[in-house]
Amino acid sequence: MSTCIEFDDVVAGYKDFMILNNLSFKAKTGSITLLLGPNGAGKSTVLKTLFGLLKPRQGRVLLNGEDVSGASQKELLAKGIAFVPQGRNLFGKLTVLQNLELGGITLGSKTTNERIPEVLEFFPRVKERMNSLASSLSGGEQKQLEVGRALLLRPKVLLIDEPSIGLSPLVVQDVFKLLRKLADQGTTVLMVEQNVKSALKISDEAIALESGRLVLQKPASELLADPHIERLFLGGAAAATPAAV
Ligand SMILES: Nc1ncnc2c1ncn2[C@@H]1O[C@H](COP(=O)(O)OP(=O)(O)O)[C@@H](O)[C@H]1O
Ligand SMILES: [Mg+2]
Repeated sequence: MSTCIEFDDVVAGYKDFMILNNLSFKAKTGSITLLLGPNGAGKSTVLKTLFGLLKPRQGRVLLNGEDVSGASQKELLAKGIAFVPQGRNLFGKLTVLQNLELGGITLGSKTTNERIPEVLEFFPRVKERMNSLASSLSGGEQKQLEVGRALLLRPKVLLIDEPSIGLSPLVVQDVFKLLRKLADQGTTVLMVEQNVKSALKISDEAIALESGRLVLQKPASELLADPHIERLFLGGAAAATPAAV
């Protein structure tokens, strides 16, 4: 499999405060890479940097071998990167359909209207509620709608930040199964998720950050078999005991 995403010695942060410190890693095309690490480690910052919300101060971000460091969000969207941020990101006072229409605004209405039914096939419960206000959907349905809105763009790369927050375990499984299916169809998925064991089961590779540095990269299956995986999301433990994980 070829490399889709590469961070090469990336330094990035907010104002004068650097969060990613010489971070390097690679993610393969059509794989799910799980980004682990304690709160504040810089996981969301990785996704934001890849989506052009932050510009690397040093190093390079490569997409299929092309240097996209410093590219605008619009350019990155055009290259096929979609981002589902943490939390709720819908227009609650608009309907399900209107939210999807807005999600496809860069595609034009003809293409959007063609793709909406395709996307909704993944989410039968949301499909039944097309004309309901987004705010009236359950938390799980709202997250599904957000993923659906991203899928309208037929992304080559899907960045998704803590999708399981506020969702029931069954719904989480549905979202994870969908991510697996997308990856199997060739989408590269980079996911931040604290629900580590469930997420590892559908992931190919896991990487762990500690203070913006890579402290581990392993096949997900290997990590899943490790009795000490909890260390990876308890602050400080991963860096202190790299040999144990
Ligand atoms: N917009 C921002 N401005 C300044 N500092 C930020 C901003 N967003 C995040 N940070 C800081 O960057 C660090 C890493 O944040 P983040 O990437 O969100 O961590 P994680 O997702 O691993 O919990 C934290 O210390 C956080 O406080
Ligand atoms: Mg985060």
